[in-house]
Amino acid sequence: MAKEKIVLAYSGGLDTSVAIPWLKENYDAEVIAYTADLGQIKNKKIIHDKSLATGAQRFYLEDLREKFLKDFAFRALEASALYEGKYPLISALSRPLIAQRMVEVAREEQATALAHGATGKGNDQVRFELTFKALAPELKIIAPAREWEFKSREEEILYAKRKKIPISATKRSPYSIDRNLWGVSIECGILEEPWIEPPEDAYQMTISPKKAPDRERYIEISFAKGIPIKIDGKEYPPVALMEKLNKIGGENGIGRIDIVENRLIGIKSREVYEAPGAMILYNAHDALERLVLDRETFDHKRLIGERYGQLIYNGLWFSPEREALEKFIAETQKRVFGTVRLKFYKGNCIIVGRKSPYSLYQRNLATYSKKDLFDQKSAQGFIDLYGLPSKILGAMENRAE
Ligand code: ARG
Repeated sequence: MAKEKIVLAYSGGLDTSVAIPWLKENYDAEVIAYTADLGQIKNKKIIHDKSLATGAQRFYLEDLREKFLKDFAFRALEASALYEGKYPLISALSRPLIAQRMVEVAREEQATALAHGATGKGNDQVRFELTFKALAPELKIIAPAREWEFKSREEEILYAKRKKIPISATKRSPYSIDRNLWGVSIECGILEEPWIEPPEDAYQMTISPKKAPDRERYIEISFAKGIPIKIDGKEYPPVALMEKLNKIGGENGIGRIDIVENRLIGIKSREVYEAPGAMILYNAHDALERLVLDRETFDHKRLIGERYGQLIYNGLWFSPEREALEKFIAETQKRVFGTVRLKFYKGNCIIVGRKSPYSLYQRNLATYSKKDLFDQKSAQGFIDLYGLPSKILGAMENRAE
């Protein structure tokens, strides 16, 4: 049988490091390690050297930060998509992009299989594999962490030692951490106890609101077609914009999320997230939509956004439904231009002002002052008809008594 050639989603962490010798041993394979930089890579040389020292035949590191924001994260922002009303889809948005690029690399390399380090208990396996299936139905999929016999991290470490592969000398974090420019997902260790407050050392991007500065910080964010483009009047490309908002948000203790969520496979899990920049943007974008969208579109969009978030969470990025929903969402963003003013204070992200050339707000209708142009008498006819069913029902019930 010809040797298998496998493209592996590689993070440099323990699971994907162990996966390299494990795949070579169990599948008689050559392994190509693939890493996407989504803002989490601190040192390119270290991960490069490590992948080769671990036995990868070749190592790919691609800077996908801008693509991740433009084509994935900002789409979720436009849709106001939060899974189960809270989770800004940090990890969920990244998997289809990584998997898509892996497929392209596999084609260039004439690989025979794709592999990832996700376990059989989570959502990431679904996201990787649904993308693989949609884009490369002919390629084999291997999930070592679902197959191998290791029962604990200790057993993995023993195997790594036996295989003489480097594992980080630095003391390992007790948490499982998945980070990108949209935020960080933190799991495992004591966080598995939903009653226990997350220890401060679990947090990666934000300082405790208690330690945040004792003064208010104001900023202005401008949007064009639903996309953030300026901070305090100055233009920023996507990556620089996110880095800046993550920094300011983090310093002010903004964007910590602690929830029990429903995974696709049916298990509930306690999740801790931090998304300082993303939560600032969700808040600001929402404030602007409330100013420029008509009532019915705003209302309908909330349903579409909820559905869009579920679809991303459930690994269905590459699906006709996503494309169809995006058409609706794009249509709603046509007039989402303008600026929102926010105030940060000790973990709070407070909207204090909004303006737009497409504003539907009319002060002379809303006002209770002398400038009022609204004819209050016209409301009576409206209520007579709007209340007609209530009146008919009320009369019937009184008769029946
Ligand atoms: N529960 C989150 C999700 O499904 C976080 C996943 C984090 N992934 C990881 N490999 N640590 O999107």
